[in-house]
Amino acid sequence: MAEKQEAKLTLPDGKEVKLPVIVGTEDEHAVDISKLRAESGYITLDTGFMNTGSTKSAITYLDGEQGILRYRGYPIEELAEKSNFVEVSYLLINGKLPNERERKDFGTNLTRHSLIHEDMHNFFAGFPPTSHPMAVISAMVTSLSAYYPDSLDRDTDVSIHITRLLSKLRTIAAFAYKKSIGQPLMYPKNSLNYCGNFLHMMFAVPSEDYEVSPILEKAVNQLLILHADHEQNCSTSTVRMVGSSGANLYASIAAGILALWGPLHGGANQAVIEMLEGIQKSGISYKQFLEDVKSKKDNTRLMGFGHRVYKNFDPRAKILKKMCDEVLAHLGVNDPLLDIAKSMEEVALKDDYFISKKLYPNVDFYSGIIYRALGIPTNMFTVMFALGRLPGWIAHWKEMVEDKDTKIGRPRQIYTGDKVRHYVPIEQR
Ligand code: ACO
Repeated sequence: MAEKQEAKLTLPDGKEVKLPVIVGTEDEHAVDISKLRAESGYITLDTGFMNTGSTKSAITYLDGEQGILRYRGYPIEELAEKSNFVEVSYLLINGKLPNERERKDFGTNLTRHSLIHEDMHNFFAGFPPTSHPMAVISAMVTSLSAYYPDSLDRDTDVSIHITRLLSKLRTIAAFAYKKSIGQPLMYPKNSLNYCGNFLHMMFAVPSEDYEVSPILEKAVNQLLILHADHEQNCSTSTVRMVGSSGANLYASIAAGILALWGPLHGGANQAVIEMLEGIQKSGISYKQFLEDVKSKKDNTRLMGFGHRVYKNFDPRAKILKKMCDEVLAHLGVNDPLLDIAKSMEEVALKDDYFISKKLYPNVDFYSGIIYRALGIPTNMFTVMFALGRLPGWIAHWKEMVEDKDTKIGRPRQIYTGDKVRHYVPIEQR
């Protein structure tokens, strides 16, 4: 990382402030304003952090204009095709692809830590059956810090907590689903690998044999890989922000899960299906729906379209569209929602509204249709996203904790409220 150029900022009083320019590995340029307030009294204002880098990071590179996404330098297309989720998790967290021994040890540890404390089963029973699973899993992840109190010690060896979390979130997610449909919890099976075990816990029942379909297992692997990291998005920034206060790993990740829940972020996959179902049920044509989007009727948005960073195409959406066709063909599923989605995409990509605003399908446009085909209910879609994003959140939390330059996250503000005024007793108001 070079630090050689300089920018100059001239303030209204004519004072000039020199600001170092930071250049990243891929020639991204940033003006370092860390000393701006100390030297000038000014702060910067950047609502939504559209132009603000919050950290230097060596985990993920993405170029929204070119549609590039790489984890630790490896293109997402190669990882989705050739790797699997466990290996990608290792890569994100440890910065390198594991050798055979490391891969085996990592997998074995994940297998060994898949059970959750039996007492935690009572928590599932305490939630109403209508609970959204994101509420359940975030609460469960927070609870893990109560079962592993050494995680509160800042000098603890985090590697065991990382293993536990990666393994147990999968169990927690499947248990939350089983509980919501009133089926018995299926314990993890050590003979299965990570994604196969997840499918087993989700779809097996004690009264029948369940065989994991290799095609479905591959699809889950790919879906999780595609979601595994996306640099400083809303939930990852939340994990870093919460973790910067010294909060433990479980607490920081639980906060990330909650940030992911919103429909403008990870909740979009659920929102896409609800939108498609709404179009189908209401009987309006998808073309009319797109007209409503364009005229901003009732603030309608085409969910699954648009991205803060990708302004050309989302490379994950390309892979997902292909996967969607393959999975549905394999399962022999004919989903009318897929037809609506494809038709809308085709029309939107030729429409000036979407072209001029650089709105393209994002990762969530097709993922929901694949989840539906796999038999995963709509309210579990964002849980699937959380499961995929987990190694990314962990990698960022770890990078932040290990970075000696980390400071507690604490943005400034421009105050726009009243100037000082004095307390008036209630009878005089
Ligand atoms: N449908 C219709 N119009 C849209 C859409 C959309 N999906 N997205 C953005 N626009 C329009 C906005 O109305 C706005 O128009 P204007 O300039 O006339 O006011 C313009 O495009 C810019 O939109 P912003 O909301 O300012 O763009 P921003 O970068 O802040 O938002 C976001 C990005 C939140 C993803 C947005 O595109 C959106 O709401 N998409 C739908 C939700 C979605 O799919 N989210 C998942 C994102 S991927 C992820 O988090 C995993």
